[in-house]
This record gives sequence, C-alpha cells and structure tokens, in this order.
Amino acid sequence: MSRIAYVNGRYLPLARASIPVESRAAQFADGVYEVAKVVDGRIIDLDRHLARLRRSLDALAIPLPVTPAGLRQIINRTLARNRLRQALVYLQVDRGTAARNHLFPRGTRPALTVTVRRSQLPGDDELARGVGVIALPDERWARCDIKSIALLPNVLAKQRAAEAGCREAWLHDEAGRVTEGSSANAYIVDGHGQVITHPLGPGILGGVTRAVLLDLARGAGIAVAERPFSLAEARAAAEAFLTSTSSLVLPVTTIDGAPVGDGRPGPVTRHLLDLYRQHCGLRALGA
Ligand code: PDD
Repeated sequence: MSRIAYVNGRYLPLARASIPVESRAAQFADGVYEVAKVVDGRIIDLDRHLARLRRSLDALAIPLPVTPAGLRQIINRTLARNRLRQALVYLQVDRGTAARNHLFPRGTRPALTVTVRRSQLPGDDELARGVGVIALPDERWARCDIKSIALLPNVLAKQRAAEAGCREAWLHDEAGRVTEGSSANAYIVDGHGQVITHPLGPGILGGVTRAVLLDLARGAGIAVAERPFSLAEARAAAEAFLTSTSSLVLPVTTIDGAPVGDGRPGPVTRHLLDLYRQHCGLRALGA
C-alpha cells in the first residue's frame, strides 16, 4: 500500500505530496516539527508533543494554520489512511510560501504537512547491548529549545557518528559540558545511582521523552540532578543512556570507543527503560 501524506488540507499519495520551491521551509528552514510515537494505535504523549509544537511556533511567531482539535483529527486521519498502528508521526509547520525575502511575508498561510511511517524502535538486541556515541563540539545555534527544522549541524554530527560506527554524537560546549545528542537527550548515572542530565534552557531541546522519564524516575525514588555534566564525568560514569521518541531509553555503553562502566547497560538504565516501556504500553524486555 502506498503511503498517504497530509499536505495543506489534502491527503495525497506520498509520491505526489510536495511543498513549493518557494516554501519558507525549503529556502530558509523557516519552520518547526514534531515527531510522536504510535504504539498499538495510541499516540504516546500527544498532549506534550502538541504543547511543544505550540511553544516552538510561538517562539517563531508562526500561527498554527488549523485548530488544535483539527490538528488532532488530521493526525488520526493520516494514521488511519496509512493503516498503521505502530508508527512515527512527523508534523511540520512552516511559515508558508512567498517570493524569497528574509522578512516575514505578510498574509501568507503557514503550511502544515503530516506524514507517518512504520516505526523501527530499537530491538531487544540493541537494548541489551547498548550503543556507542562519539563526542563532538556542539556547533548549533543558541535556541536549541525550539524544535526547528534547521538541522544541518545535527545532520553533520549524526553522519560523523555513523561513519565512526556509532549510533549518536554527544555534543559538548566550549567548556566540555555535554548538552545533548544530535537527535536525543543525554544522561549519565553516577556511582550513587543518581541520574544526571543537562537542565532545560536554550542549550537543549526539552525532549518529551526526557520530561516523562524524569517524572518516572522521581516517582520510582531514583535521584535526578538536572545539571550540566562534563565529558570527563561521562567517561567516568557508572552508566550512560540517551532518550528520544524513536530511541526510547537507549543504553550508551561506549564513548569514543571506551567503555562506560563495565561496558554493559547498567541497572538504573534498565530499570528506567522498563518504566518507560510500561508507560508506552510496550511489553517488558525479554517477555
Ligand atoms: N528528535 N534532542 C534533539 C536535538 C532531538 O532532535 C530530539 C528528538 C530529542 C528528544 O526529544 P523527544 O524525546 O521529544 O523525541 C532531543 C526527533 C525524534 C527527531 O528529530 O527525529
């Protein structure tokens, strides 16, 4: 079955779905996006994703071109038309189409596109083994809290990670503090079992998975510190992991090829992964 995309009021086969050459998205990356996960037909944490979309749009003064209820209906219809119950939903809103000019165009209607695809969540093997990351300088802009479609530094970092045989790049600022990954939030666990992750602010994207995970951790009595940690601390940590909508809670077992802790996913990470899988209605690992 060919995939169906929603584009500005129409549901079209993906091959015929397009945005114009003079789209602000194409010419200026002047737009924002969201990625949400669907498990057994249920969209996980949709309210949080839509709240973040609203926040990103407000930061760029782009109005949402449909009502919030309309947007939910579009997402559900796109999912239904693609007959997918395990999926990732991608939403994008850009400022619209106008003759190229850096200034915001007047009276232009923002463009909304929604696509879905079958999700490929990390498999049991990968979750059991963990993944490697490489450390790279964070070369992004100063508003990483906006989920902007301008992702070139993220793309370059992810590509370099893949070329080094790694799953992710962990980005660090000039002081050597880890901000986050190219498309995931970053965490370490210290020798006392405390989870440490960069605080919210303009330096990182406030991950939906991050927010849920920290709630779950606190609820389970796991200590959490939202403070920057250095690469040196990460290299000496007992455990490390990353989170994102599509990666869930993914153990990080090497940094630049050197093992973290004993080089295997640690107990705190595995506990958090179980809690998060439960939250999403995913079966327990190994079950
Ligand atoms: N990436 N940090 C960055 C830079 C991200 O791009 C993402 C998400 C996250 C985690 O956010 P969340 O938990 O809300 O997925 C953190 C998405 C999945 C992507 O670009 O595909």
